[in-house]
Amino acid sequence: NRRISVHDIARAKERGEKWAMLTAYDAMTASVFDEAGIPVMLVGDSAGNCHLGYETTVPVTMDEMTFLSAAVVRGTRRALIVGDLPFGSYQEGPVQALRNATRLVKEAGVGAVKLEGGERSLAQTELIVESGIPVVSHLGLTPQSVNTMGYRVQGRGDEAAHRLLRDAKAAQDAGAFAVVLELVPAEVAAEVTRSLHIPTIGIGAGPHTDAQVLVWTDMAGLTGGKVPRFSKSYANLRQSLTDAAKAFAEDVAGGAFPAEEHTFH
Ligand code: KIV
Ligand code: NA
Repeated sequence: NRRISVHDIARAKERGEKWAMLTAYDAMTASVFDEAGIPVMLVGDSAGNCHLGYETTVPVTMDEMTFLSAAVVRGTRRALIVGDLPFGSYQEGPVQALRNATRLVKEAGVGAVKLEGGERSLAQTELIVESGIPVVSHLGLTPQSVNTMGYRVQGRGDEAAHRLLRDAKAAQDAGAFAVVLELVPAEVAAEVTRSLHIPTIGIGAGPHTDAQVLVWTDMAGLTGGKVPRFSKSYANLRQSLTDAAKAFAEDVAGGAFPAEEHTFH
């Protein structure tokens, strides 16, 4: 009963098999996705917005990522669990990056870590991989840079597309086993996917990447307010939970709950 490994992921690209990845932030939800056969789960720092009530991913701490990642690992048996390195946990340099990646592996039990940036995170990626921890590199829109980058499509225009391809190759050369491409034109994502021997994982990057990742609360229709255009809701959990909570409250107010079958004498 072993977990999916980075070797299984590499083999999928050789075979041309596409696969799906979801974020997860807690043991119970992660156990559902594990039983549904989702091979790779990301404990994303999107937990900042989607789980912890922050406005962005920027405030998320190593303590929070360690706590959430440990829960997801406990809730799963088969999936490869990737833990996000949050803002400020690797930007100072390779030694800091390795220390925090090691913490996610030892304290939370993740099988891999993810960090943002290609060339700018090269030394970090190299040292973490050399030390025995698989790394996913996150390119295109990198939400930890929201204060300089904003939230817009990246890699538009020849120069930006070339820079993205260079970043992707740098990540691959540094030893990353996959790259996330967030919010980039489909044509650019397709070119990156063709140019790399490691898999590309798209989010808002069109249909030609090797894998697709979605934020689970968007995928399940739990997120309140506006969901990005590149996402798709496969359920309406927000409505279901609203209905359930209202029905419970009405039953209590009207005396219909608890009924005889819920009662001990
Ligand atoms: O934090 C996250 O959920 C992510 C994915 C969007 C790739 O980084
Ligand atoms: Na993230």
